[in-house]
Amino acid sequence: MTIRPALAEIGRLATMPRVKMAHVPTAIEAMDNLRGALFPDGDGPRLLVKRDDNTGIAMGGNKVRQLEFYLGDAVDKGADTVLITSAVQSNFVRTCAAMAARLGLACHVQLEERVPKNDPLYRTNGNVLLDRIAGATLHAYPDGEDEAGADRQLEVLADALRAEGAKPYVIHLSADHPPLGAIGYVLAARELLEQIDEQGLAIDRLFLGSGSAATHTGMLWGLRAFGSDLRVTGVCVRRAADLQGPRVRANLGRLSALLDHDPGITEDDVEVTDVSLAPGYGRLNDGVREAIALAGSKEGLFVDPVYTGKVLAGMISALRAGAMATDETALFLHTGGQPALFAYGDSVLESADA
Ligand SMILES: Cc1ncc(COP(=O)(O)O)c(C=O)c1O
Repeated sequence: MTIRPALAEIGRLATMPRVKMAHVPTAIEAMDNLRGALFPDGDGPRLLVKRDDNTGIAMGGNKVRQLEFYLGDAVDKGADTVLITSAVQSNFVRTCAAMAARLGLACHVQLEERVPKNDPLYRTNGNVLLDRIAGATLHAYPDGEDEAGADRQLEVLADALRAEGAKPYVIHLSADHPPLGAIGYVLAARELLEQIDEQGLAIDRLFLGSGSAATHTGMLWGLRAFGSDLRVTGVCVRRAADLQGPRVRANLGRLSALLDHDPGITEDDVEVTDVSLAPGYGRLNDGVREAIALAGSKEGLFVDPVYTGKVLAGMISALRAGAMATDETALFLHTGGQPALFAYGDSVLESADA
């Protein structure tokens, strides 16, 4: 068995404030039916999925691991209220609302107009419904691209709450803040490596979603810090590859500064593809519809229209193009997001672009 550095040997990693809520380790499962459907002649790689959609609280997903560190910091700083901003159908927001409720913290969420979708399902169902059930206070923000502006507006809300006697904690959106959420994926990388060792797995390439880049950054940083050279492909869900690559690189540097450790990541380590992004964030295309249908009908696995459907579509596209050999293994990181299925309704089944 490979000897890996202990958490305490990785800079400040072991000392970062955290609230433990995730149900981990998440399972790694084979997707043999999907492999058979994609490669009936047996000429494709073995497929595995790591079930981070099952992280336990708030319907699971990657944001649970990330919020353990934001909310840990909030509790450490004595906050009684958290503020967060993201898209209308954000999983980050829904997960924050639920985890804050569990911690007895008030939660204010700001929902941004990132997707040109006005139908009632999108506006009220899925994650929006869950935000409200979790008791969050909802605010609207008219822009979907202005990260700094959305953060500034959160600060305005925080000032107003402070004036009323609350102790607010702001979870910023823009990338120029310490990437606390990425720490959750540094630990997930360690978890994955333990599973690889214990289960005798040979994994050649990992496909994951790259949006805020917390998952991508944390996983890549963690793999290298714990001595693995596993190839990581970030599938763009939010912005084109020429913008996402620099975002990931900048985030990696911020994470090294935050944790006071340099895992020695090279330029080639940062790999992004936007093959399945069009026509843009939160908007469907036929590859995503196919991925949703294949995962559901072959594996009983639900992927979502905004994130994991795009990641799986990106992985399928790469594999169909012959990116991996039959004796290799691809791992799909399922990061959750299924509540959005109910906000998109049967548009996920149609063939016309939404
Ligand atoms: C379900 C799901 N998968 C993947 C992502 C992308 O992760 P990250 O924002 O850490 O890049 C998100 C982001 O919101 C998400 O909700």
